[in-house]
Amino acid sequence: MPLSRISRLVARVSLVAALGTLAATYERSCMACHGMRSAAPLTGHAESWRPRLAQGMDTLLQHTREGLRGMPAMGLCPDCGEQDFRDLITFMSTPR
Ligand code: HEC
Repeated sequence: MPLSRISRLVARVSLVAALGTLAATYERSCMACHGMRSAAPLTGHAESWRPRLAQGMDTLLQHTREGLRGMPAMGLCPDCGEQDFRDLITFMSTPR
């Protein structure tokens, strides 16, 4: 197999691994509230996220870190870092 093909495969495998970690974090911390209709914006539901996204990523990150009304500080993920929250917010707010 040519080397370029192998490195493409490796890149794809590590992307899957990264998504696996993100999915596990999402399921452990965010899904309980964001995975069903509730006061929390519903994952994958564009309408719920439109006004949230309009605030800009910095505000969303701040509210995730500090909490906002029914949204607990750090979203019940005390070991999440800024990049984890960015990835989770992108994942949750992407329409599907
Ligand atoms: C205990 C329930 C709960 C959990 C767990 C939770 N959320 Fe939330 N989240 C909410 C609620 C409720 C809101 C809506 C708050 C409001 O605007 O009144 C919200 C809103 C948000 C918003 C929008 C904030 C804004 O500025 O409009 C983001 C982003 C968010 N959550 C991210 C996350 C992430 C990431 C996780 C997991 C790490 C998470 N949440 C876990 C309940 C939860």
